Amino acid sequence: MAAMTSPEAPPRRVVVTGAARGIGASIAAAFVAAGDQVVLLDRSAVVADTAADLGAKSVTCDLADPVDARRGTAEAIDTVGGVDVLVNNAGVFEIVPLLEIDADQWSRMFDVNTRSMLLTIQVAARRMIEQGTGGRIVNMASMGGKDGEAGQAHYAASKAAVISLTQVAAKELGAHQITVNSICPGYVLTEMGADTRTPEMVAGWSAKSPLGRCGSPDDVAAMAVHLASPSAAYLTGQAFNVTGGMIMH
Ligand SMILES: NC(=O)c1ccc[n+]([C@@H]2O[C@H](COP(=O)([O-])OP(=O)(O)OC[C@H]3O[C@@H](n4cnc5c(N)ncnc54)[C@H](O)[C@@H]3O)[C@@H](O)[C@H]2O)c1
Repeated sequence: MAAMTSPEAPPRRVVVTGAARGIGASIAAAFVAAGDQVVLLDRSAVVADTAADLGAKSVTCDLADPVDARRGTAEAIDTVGGVDVLVNNAGVFEIVPLLEIDADQWSRMFDVNTRSMLLTIQVAARRMIEQGTGGRIVNMASMGGKDGEAGQAHYAASKAAVISLTQVAAKELGAHQITVNSICPGYVLTEMGADTRTPEMVAGWSAKSPLGRCGSPDDVAAMAVHLASPSAAYLTGQAFNVTGGMIMH
């Protein structure tokens, strides 16, 4: 396998959204460890501390607001003088029975989980095309985007839309040597969903994996770094499971 970054290669300029904590923070840390210039973007002010701990930069931005999403993405790119890799990781989750999901809950889920990715891709891909050196875009979908659970109708639908957005973006941006892929994590024990999680649920989820455990943020970060590596140059439009075999399609 080719090295992630050869000693001669300049550091890549990497923007990671939703990077104040959880999977996004692990992805940012993995790119920093690979020697890249990383900007962490999040609506939470904690992102500044997370970035400082990594020796990286940060931008505070609410991706649910289209104006702020465009502003924040452009500011993040300018902070490191360009963009080679965009990781769209920010997302929200809640469990609500199908018959109780109201229109506002549905819209909020799509605003953050799906529409924000269209906006950040538009800003970043334009910059990648201007630079003329190709690029990598990685979108965080979910196992739920392929096989949603009860109580997740709006979340699962928003993540299925991420998989579709990824496929079309790959088709439109491929001519510029920009690859676009999505990652579908299974159950990862971050703050997301912690309020509704019980030990019995964790045991049940772990049993769904042939490996007998839930995922870690580092399991997901490793896939994001791989998709940005030279070895992944011919991968585009795909939705890669990081589920420990919980689903196999
Ligand atoms: N944890 C899991 O089991 C799991 C499984 C599949 C997919 N995912 C996906 O992985 C991604 C990261 O999840 P996580 O578990 O680390 O969650 P998390 O809740 O720990 O972190 C999400 C981050 O996104 C940020 N964010 C949320 N809304 C934002 C907005 N409007 N603008 C800017 N930032 C915003 C939050 O502040 C937070 O830092 C999400 O897209 C999630 O849907 C998670």
